Amino acid sequence: MSSKADLIVGLQWGDEGKGKIVDHMAQTHDYVCRFAGGHNAGHTIVLDGKKYALHLIPSGILNPKAKNIVGNGVVLSPKDFIKEMTQFENLEGRLFLSDKAHLLLPYHALIDQAKERMKGEKAIGTTGKGIGPAYGDKIARVGHRLGELHHPQKLADKIEDFFVMNRLVFEAMGVEIPDKITLLEELKSYQESLGRFIVDTTQMMWKILSQNNKVLLEGAQGTMLDIDHGTYPYVTSSTTISAGACAGLGINPKDIGKVTGIAKAYCTRVGNGPFPSEDFGEAGKRIRENGHEYGTTTGRPRRCGWFDAVAARHAVRVNGVDQIALMKLDVLDGFEEIKVCIAYEVGGERIDYVPYDLEDATPIYRTFVGWSGSRGVRDFDALPQTAQSYIVALEEIVECKIHIVSTSPERDDTIVR
Ligand code: GDP
Ligand code: IMO
Ligand code: MG
Repeated sequence: MSSKADLIVGLQWGDEGKGKIVDHMAQTHDYVCRFAGGHNAGHTIVLDGKKYALHLIPSGILNPKAKNIVGNGVVLSPKDFIKEMTQFENLEGRLFLSDKAHLLLPYHALIDQAKERMKGEKAIGTTGKGIGPAYGDKIARVGHRLGELHHPQKLADKIEDFFVMNRLVFEAMGVEIPDKITLLEELKSYQESLGRFIVDTTQMMWKILSQNNKVLLEGAQGTMLDIDHGTYPYVTSSTTISAGACAGLGINPKDIGKVTGIAKAYCTRVGNGPFPSEDFGEAGKRIRENGHEYGTTTGRPRRCGWFDAVAARHAVRVNGVDQIALMKLDVLDGFEEIKVCIAYEVGGERIDYVPYDLEDATPIYRTFVGWSGSRGVRDFDALPQTAQSYIVALEEIVECKIHIVSTSPERDDTIVR
């Protein structure tokens, strides 16, 4: 009998605290597998006071027993991956990279930044890491896969041809074309560092599931940043929702078991685009400071606001979420009143779904009584009564069970109901 994989997915605009929950759940899983995104992701794990920021390496890496797979749906920057690897020892036999994952090379980042500059006020506010251009090349069928690193000379020649063909475009964007010899040297060094980790992870996924291993699939970004179901065009370039796990790892929908959706007890967004429940006043500032809401990847201050239950319900449905992990409850400690967006007003009408353009939506709030003293609590019954009522009400509005509540960044400050 083969096992079914558990899946973790972000329900908001990313940075929900996926890293903490993946790390928490990795304690009972044999494999942790990333299926989408690139080093635009920043997953933070705090263990005994020490902070780890992971961008591409799956968050199972801090559990010495868990093995880690980077699937074909990921765009991988070898340079950044190699840098990230230096935080850890003995990765051999614990880390596997799909030969079909696409390469994100330094010129992708230059293109990303140039395009953002050209957009001016209409910029998406990307991380500038080259994610859009790397996925763009993949979809346009001019990308390069990790498997090609095994033949650096051939790969360098192909990239060179691509530069020649697109020279005018690069010039117009002010993007410098890399020197061929430097490029070849770079590719060779990537092959030296990463070559031994590159395998057919699709076959591996099938094998580990058929051998009944406990497998955890780690999503990156969040549902509202999904290329199809997010706030297009202010999204990332990948399928961030649970469906992306199948394409991004070569498994099928029947391989997926329990889906855990991660949401903060409030909302944040980094980058531009609609965010109806954003708070521009004192409350937003206070959430930012209490929650240290500054990007793990770019250091940018995150925009902060109230829990958006309409967006969360949309995310629960689109991902098939079985249970929610509600994160950072402690950040709301000390607020007298807490608001939740329960519907939107669009063109004078009240709606309870995510409309075509969220930019047109004005939030309709329900107000809750606040609480103090939730930080570090590990037992649901020990939470302040008003915090308990808040959680129960969210379950009703979002129509999904809140199974996990997190009350600090530390692995063990986690309530499992
Ligand atoms: P991810 O991208 O979804 O993995 O989330 P990030 O790591 O980008 O952002 C979440 C931040 O919140 C990290 O700094 C975590 O250490 C922190 N965090 C996670 N859970 C909690 C919690 O329950 N309380 C507090 N105060 N911080 C938390
Ligand atoms: P994790 O996995 C929050 C946002 C960027 C920008 C948009 C497009 O840590 O939750 P991109 O560089 O992907 O082309 O940028 O998506 N973004 C994230 N926001 N958390 C993330 O990842 C994000 N990854 C991308 O800020 O608005
Ligand atoms: Mg993050």
